[in-house]
Amino acid sequence: MQRVLSGIQPSGDVHLGNLLGALQNWVADQHTHESFHPIVDLHAVTVPQDPAELQTATLRLAQMLMASGLDPDICVLFVQSHVPEHTQLAWVLECTAGFGELRRMHQFKDKSADMDFVCAGLFTYPVLQAADIVLYDTDVVPVGDDQRQHIELTRDITQRFNARYGEVLVVPEHRIPPAGARVMDLQEPTRKMSKSADEAPGTIWLLDEPDTVRRKIRRAVTDSEAEVRFDREAKPGVSNLLEILGAATGRSPQEVAAGYDRYGELKNGCAEAVVELLAPIRRRFDELSTDPGETQRALAAGAETAGEIATATMARVREAMGFLPRG
Ligand code: TRP
Repeated sequence: MQRVLSGIQPSGDVHLGNLLGALQNWVADQHTHESFHPIVDLHAVTVPQDPAELQTATLRLAQMLMASGLDPDICVLFVQSHVPEHTQLAWVLECTAGFGELRRMHQFKDKSADMDFVCAGLFTYPVLQAADIVLYDTDVVPVGDDQRQHIELTRDITQRFNARYGEVLVVPEHRIPPAGARVMDLQEPTRKMSKSADEAPGTIWLLDEPDTVRRKIRRAVTDSEAEVRFDREAKPGVSNLLEILGAATGRSPQEVAAGYDRYGELKNGCAEAVVELLAPIRRRFDELSTDPGETQRALAAGAETAGEIATATMARVREAMGFLPRG
C-alpha cells in the first residue's frame, strides 16, 4: 500500500470547502492507502497563538476530523508536537536546505508581506513541512496546487540529503488530489470559501445549525438572469451552488443543473443536501465533545504508531550523518 501524508493546521474551524475539497478525499484514501494525518500545531505557532485557544482548537480539530469520517482505527491521526522527531528532523533538513531556496517560497512572501514581526520559524516553515513528510517514508503527498512549491522543495532537500549521506530518505511525490469540489464563498463566489471571512455570511461551518445553513444558502449571491446553468465565468454564484449540491450528493454540477429551472428551487435543494450531509457530522461531533477521552485516546494511539516510525527514521538519519551514539 502506498503511504500518503497530509497535515492540517489547528487554526479556525472546518468549513464546507475543506470538507468537500479535501477532507472527503482523505476519508476515501484511508481505505486504499496507509494514511497519515498530523494536526500541525508546530506550524500554527509560526504566527501568534493564544495558548488556551491553541489547545482547544487542536482537540476540536481532531474531533471534527473524526466526525467527518477519518477513522483513527485505519489511518494515523495524531498531533505533530506529540512526536518530537518532527523538530529533530526539521533541524537536520534546515542544514540541508539553502537560505536562497527558502527565500523564494511564495507562501512565505505572501504571509510575511504585511507582518510587523516575522519570526524565523515562519521562514523555515517549509522545512518543518518537509520533515513531516519525510519522517514517515511518505510516497505521496495529496495537496492542492498552493502547496506545490513546498513539495518540490521537500523533494530537492531529500535528494540533496541522499546524495550526501546515502539513500536514507524516501523522496515523496506530489499528487494533486482528484478534483474535490471547488467551493467558493457564498457572498463573493469568485474567491474560495475561507476561514478568514470576518462575519462569514459566505462560509458554511461544519457545525452550523440547519437553520443557519438554510439562511446562508438562501442569501447566497446569484445573478440577475434566471437560467440555471453551470458556467463559472459568467455565473459564479449559481455555479457554486451547483457544485456544492453536486459534491454533497455525488453528482456533477452539470447533472445537477439539468434538474432545476429556478434559483429558489436550486437554493432549497442545495440547502437540504448540505443540511443532510452535515447532520451525521454534527451528531458525531456532539458525542465526541461530550466524551473528549475517546479522541484523546485515539490521538495517543496515533502518536504511538507515528512515533515508532519516526524513531526508526531518525535513527537512520543520525547514523548516516555521523552523530556519536549515546553510549
Ligand atoms: N503547509 C500546509 C498548509 O498550509 C500544512 C502542512 C504542514 C502539510 N505539514 C504538511 C501539508 C505536510 C501536507 C504535508 O496547508
